[in-house]
Amino acid sequence: MLQSLRARLAFLFAGTLVLATVTAAVVVVSLYQSYNRDQTEAELRKQVSGVASYYERAFRRSFRQGKPPPPKILKTEFEGVSDAKLYQIGPTLFPNAPNTLNNAHIHLDYSTLGPKARPVYQFSSDGATYIGVGAPIFSGKQPIGAVVLAKPLADVNNAWKNVIGLVAAGVAVGLIVAIILATYVARRITHPLRVLGSAADKVARGDLDVNVIGKRTSDDELGQLATRFQGMVDRLREVDELERNFLMRVTHELRTPLTAISGHVQALAEGVVGPDDLDESLTAVNEEVRRLDRLVGDLLDLTRLEAHQFRVVSEEVGLAALLERAAASFREKARTNDVIFHTPIDQAPTIITDGDRVLQIVNNLLDNAFRWTPRGGTVQLGCSTSNGVAAISVSDTGRGISPAEKEAVFHPFYSRRGEGGTGLGLSIARELATALGGRLSVESEPGQGSTFTLSLPRKRRRRAK
Ligand SMILES: Nc1ncnc2c1ncn2[C@@H]1O[C@H](COP(=O)(O)OP(=O)(O)OP(=O)(O)O)[C@@H](O)[C@H]1O
Ligand SMILES: [Mg+2]
Repeated sequence: MLQSLRARLAFLFAGTLVLATVTAAVVVVSLYQSYNRDQTEAELRKQVSGVASYYERAFRRSFRQGKPPPPKILKTEFEGVSDAKLYQIGPTLFPNAPNTLNNAHIHLDYSTLGPKARPVYQFSSDGATYIGVGAPIFSGKQPIGAVVLAKPLADVNNAWKNVIGLVAAGVAVGLIVAIILATYVARRITHPLRVLGSAADKVARGDLDVNVIGKRTSDDELGQLATRFQGMVDRLREVDELERNFLMRVTHELRTPLTAISGHVQALAEGVVGPDDLDESLTAVNEEVRRLDRLVGDLLDLTRLEAHQFRVVSEEVGLAALLERAAASFREKARTNDVIFHTPIDQAPTIITDGDRVLQIVNNLLDNAFRWTPRGGTVQLGCSTSNGVAAISVSDTGRGISPAEKEAVFHPFYSRRGEGGTGLGLSIARELATALGGRLSVESEPGQGSTFTLSLPRKRRRRAK
């Protein structure tokens, strides 16, 4: 029954409210009890004072007239006024007093009490307990006796029964309100969770068309959870879209060389290619096969890198020698392209990294730089060190990269080279840089040139899984 959060919340709220109501009822009853006892004492004190002073006056009057004091004063004057029972101590002041308690054991030394003293007693008589207030009776300065007015304690203690009905009714109403309120609040709290739950089910089934942000989405933790969930779904949708586009690009890129190869092979099979064109045709087929091979290799690299399944070795790498190797393979290109090639790399440090991967990245950057630098331009390969980080830079004075393109160039298949490039070079280079614990960034001024910087830690840290 209490398996659902909603039921548990409702139970918790209602339980807390019931506990609070019952505690309040107990406090009210006990406060009422003590108030009632105080009231009883005050009432008895007032009445006993009245009796004492009435008797004193009657006593004085009788004394002046030379008669005995009136024995029936209580019966006539006070009977009915109070439900208190009269108890008398000392000389027989009230021989005809009603409800006199004969067996009461009470020590009331009225001769030592002042005229204003009103002592309170609790005593037993005839099997019952009483609460009583005493008052000495004075004739002038001479105490002549005392009177005690008493009330059965059971009457005082049972007074709570008068209010308990009212309290019980209050508790019952409170309980009903508590249950209604608890159910409502529990429903309000759990509703967004249910919405999120069914949205999560939908996403798990592969349906990303969900929206959990409505007009009534609150600003509290549940609202924030819904916002985060929606953010996650939106991101999944983006990834889904990217994946679809990626697959389409891959298919397209694979089909282009395949179509070319198939065309050449068909022409060869049909004997359309004359002996003079045979070499050219076979070279074209060979070229396309190499392109396919490179594309498949790049795709494999990228997939492994993105899945963090790429093995990277850690070895001592002298960057000066490594960069010189990279530079050497481009010197011929610099000469034929008429591009000035600077290589201030002899101060490059030795670091712990994967040399082959660093070479792969640098080759990629140099390949791009030479491709986009016009005749008469300059390409520079440099290396600097600061704060334990080696920064290898490849600068060129080519066409540059616009701010809008700055991130896009690192996306797979982003290429401006038309048929010539796959657009995988920089995305692989960036993933490799990350796998080596470094980063690859670009600064560029359109029309002025670009600088790609590969930052590598001098000691490769293991990437946290
Ligand atoms: N130095 C550069 N100057 C200007 N644009 C550049 C430079 N380097 C890269 N780019 C731009 O970024 C794009 C992506 O480069 P990337 O190396 O990823 O792919 P690619 O060179 O086109 O193909 P691939 O390297 O796979 O053969 C390039 O097509 C080009 O538009
Ligand atoms: Mg490239």
